[in-house]
Amino acid sequence: MGNETLTITDNRTGKTYEVPVQNGTIKALDLRQIKIGPDDFGLMTYDPAFMNTASCKSKITFIDGDKGILRYRGYPIEQLAERSTYLETAFLLINGELPTRAELEDWTYQVNHHTIIHENIKKFMDGFHYDANPMGMLVGTVGALSTFYKEAKNIHDPENRQKQIYRLIGKMITLAGFAYRHSRGLPFAYPDNELSYAGNFLNMLFRMTEPKYKPHPVLEKALDVLFILHADHEQNCSTNAMRSVGSSHVDPFSAVAGAAAALYGPLHGGANAEVLYMLDLIGTMNNIPDFIKSVKEGKGKLMGFGHRVYKNYDPRAKIIKHLADQVFEVTGRNPKLDMALELERIALSDEYFIKRKLYPNVDFYSGLIYQAMGFPIDMFPVLFAIGRTSGWIAQWQEMLMDGEQKIARPRQIYLGYDKRDYQTLDQRSATAA
Ligand code: CMC
Repeated sequence: MGNETLTITDNRTGKTYEVPVQNGTIKALDLRQIKIGPDDFGLMTYDPAFMNTASCKSKITFIDGDKGILRYRGYPIEQLAERSTYLETAFLLINGELPTRAELEDWTYQVNHHTIIHENIKKFMDGFHYDANPMGMLVGTVGALSTFYKEAKNIHDPENRQKQIYRLIGKMITLAGFAYRHSRGLPFAYPDNELSYAGNFLNMLFRMTEPKYKPHPVLEKALDVLFILHADHEQNCSTNAMRSVGSSHVDPFSAVAGAAAALYGPLHGGANAEVLYMLDLIGTMNNIPDFIKSVKEGKGKLMGFGHRVYKNYDPRAKIIKHLADQVFEVTGRNPKLDMALELERIALSDEYFIKRKLYPNVDFYSGLIYQAMGFPIDMFPVLFAIGRTSGWIAQWQEMLMDGEQKIARPRQIYLGYDKRDYQTLDQRSATAA
């Protein structure tokens, strides 16, 4: 390698600066020395939505958007989806290595034995309106857990942190299950810790009067794979929220509530639900060409298409499409599948989508699977949140251990008024008149 530096000439002053290049980046703070005078604050970069700014160094998830590659701690997502389980993958993300048999047994035991929630949480679950959105309920209740586990604020104590991690992964499925049961007016179903993680979740959703719930093995496996596919995705909107909120050193329950709130939005975790609403709106195959036309005219987006990072294909979408076949063999084919396939076919051969590199993302088919499995649409983001919790925790811990990190605090370009004097209400009314 030659000289790993960047030479910058400031044409305003004629001065030249040399800044180091490391890992294909320059440090934004190295630009601060570039000034036009002693009173100048120094040069900054302007990067709304972090389009070209690395906010951290990470060893957790690798994505090559052009090649359609996704790896957790070096392991390809395809191998993890086929051979791992969600709890094993969660361990990998959080601890950096796949567990030994003894570690996995202990991890599974600990997570399973932290699924029960305090009975008071049931009370405020009951306080939600009968038609409250389950994702809103999840955001509220996961944040409220911090009031039950006050020691969770001791985030610099590794043993304490570990306990909150068991609690977060364990209780997430219980909160999600209770939110669903409340929205259906059903009695809460308690965890059954003899079941797998995904099986236990299905138990808390769908158990009726049977003494022991037995999940269908194909659906249980499919849900587990979906949790793996959603477990992490480097610096996405909700993970950025987790790191940003966590950088204030708040407890992890509050930080997860912030991350889950970010995931709630239709451009992020809400997109899988939007796909189903879109398919409902289109209604029949005959309406697809008109719908595509309206998207191209800028009258809306083709939900489940496009990605900030993937510009070739989303490897998760490929796995999900295959998974859909297995699920539909058990549940029967989702009637909306044909419409989705036709939308994909048209979009992938249409100049508008090709030019903008818009491909189906993880959400395009996941909603169809969830619906076939009996989940109502408003539960889809909740399912995303359950899987993503392990990624949020891994990224939060990495941020806490990183000596270069500080409280997140971006700069701004102020374009508002210069100083002006306060006017009384009478003066302002006179001016307005
Ligand atoms: N349908 C139609 N046009 C689109 C779409 C779409 N789904 N996505 C992007 N475009 C167009 C956009 O209008 C723009 O066109 P132009 O250059 O003419 O202005 C161009 O493609 C570039 O789009 P962008 O908005 O600059 O891309 P972005 O990287 O800011 O947005 C995205 C990424 C995922 C927010 C966006 O593609 C989108 O809104 N997709 C639909 C929602 C969705 O499926 N979200 C789930 C993302 S995957 C799960 C996750 O990680 O959260």
